[in-house]
Parts: sequence; structure tokens; C-alpha cells
Amino acid sequence: MIIRTLGAGDAEAYRALMLEAYGAYPQAFTSSVAERAAMPLSWWEKRVSSPLDCLLGAFEGDELAGIVGLAFEPREKARHKVTLFGMYVTEAHQRKGLGRQLVEAALDEARRHPRLKLIQLTVTAGNDAAFALYQRCGFIQYGLEPLAVRVGVDYFDKIHLWRELKGQ
Ligand SMILES: CC(C)(COP(=O)(O)OP(=O)(O)OC[C@H]1O[C@@H](n2cnc3c(N)ncnc32)[C@H](O)[C@@H]1OP(=O)(O)O)[C@@H](O)C(=O)NCCC(=O)NCCS
Repeated sequence: MIIRTLGAGDAEAYRALMLEAYGAYPQAFTSSVAERAAMPLSWWEKRVSSPLDCLLGAFEGDELAGIVGLAFEPREKARHKVTLFGMYVTEAHQRKGLGRQLVEAALDEARRHPRLKLIQLTVTAGNDAAFALYQRCGFIQYGLEPLAVRVGVDYFDKIHLWRELKGQ
């Protein structure tokens, strides 16, 4: 398994993986599968090439088995912050330490940018696997956003987490 930054040539695989994730885990992501399936391939190509995003994929051969994204802040006063988003490991590869490796790779990537001081993310309340993973990687809860997402007729809170980039 290797973890590397996605490039324009990975847009189709990225699209397929994220549509699978949105469909299989609707409560875990704010984007819906219908919303994203409607986007043309050019939208995904832009996403993987954007200077404001960095997407890290875990590949077993040609197969994209997991993904995590970093979103940088364009505004001057917020440029010390980065947001981790779009974390997903396919079912066949879960519980083998890949999620942990992807979070660590995202932390390493963030540390390569000296201006960055902190990393933040949100996780849907009740997503115990992801919450435990982030806590293991040093993230600390600082807030709870009530009724953050609506999936069908149900509303879910989002837990807000952060950690400093220096240290382990
Ligand atoms: C959350 C997710 C990325 C974890 O990926 P993974 O590769 O299975 O995680 P790892 O094997 O690296 O596990 C690392 C730690 O996470 C926690 N964890 C992972 N899966 C877990 C589960 N099903 N139940 C409880 N804890 C779990 C554990 O603390 C684990 O450490 P341990 O194995 O030493 O106990 C994966 O389950 C997934 O893609 N879920 C669906 C999408 C999702 O929820 N994305 C997150 C959006 S915020």
C-alpha cells in the first residue's frame, strides 16, 4: 500500500471512491451522493488539481483503497489553519490501520507548510469509529454543532475537533 498525492489523472478513481463513500455512509459526509453524482468529471479534475486542496490516496496497485483531503484557507487571517475532510477507507481495507496511516500522512503533509499552526475537522456524532481514530491521532473536541446535517428526516450533530501541528 502506498500513500501519495492525487493528480489530474486520478479524478475518475477519486469520483468513484467518493460516490461509493457518500452512498454507503450518508451520515458521515455532508455531501450527498445525488449532489455529487451530478457533477461532471471536470469538477472532480478541478478538485484534485486545486491549489487550495490536497488529496492523499492509499493505493494497492491501481486500486484506490482510501482517501483523505486537506483544505487550505485562502484568506490571510485564516491561513494558519487547515481542515481535514473526505476521509474514507473502503470496507475491504478497514480495521487494518489504513485510516490511521492516512491521518498521519495528512498531518505530515500539513507540517510541510510552516505557516500552518493547527488542523481541524468535524465528525458526525455517533460515528464512533472515526471519532476514536481522530482521538488516537491527537485530536481534541472543542465543540458540538447541533443539528449540523439532515439526512432524510433525521438530524445529526457534528463534533468539532482540532489539534496543534507541532508535537506528535
Ligand atoms: C473511520 C474510518 C476512516 C477508519 O478507517 P480504518 O482504516 O478502519 O481505521 P484504522 O484501522 O486505522 O483504525 C484506527 C483506529 O480507529 C478506531 N476505529 C476504526 N474502526 C473502528 C470501529 N469500527 N469501531 C471502533 N473504533 C474503530 C480505533 O481506535 C482504531 O484503532 P485500533 O484498531 O488500535 O483500535 C473507516 O471506518 C471509514 O472509512 N468509515 C466510513 C467513512 C467515515 O466515517 N469517514 C469519516 C468521516 S469524518
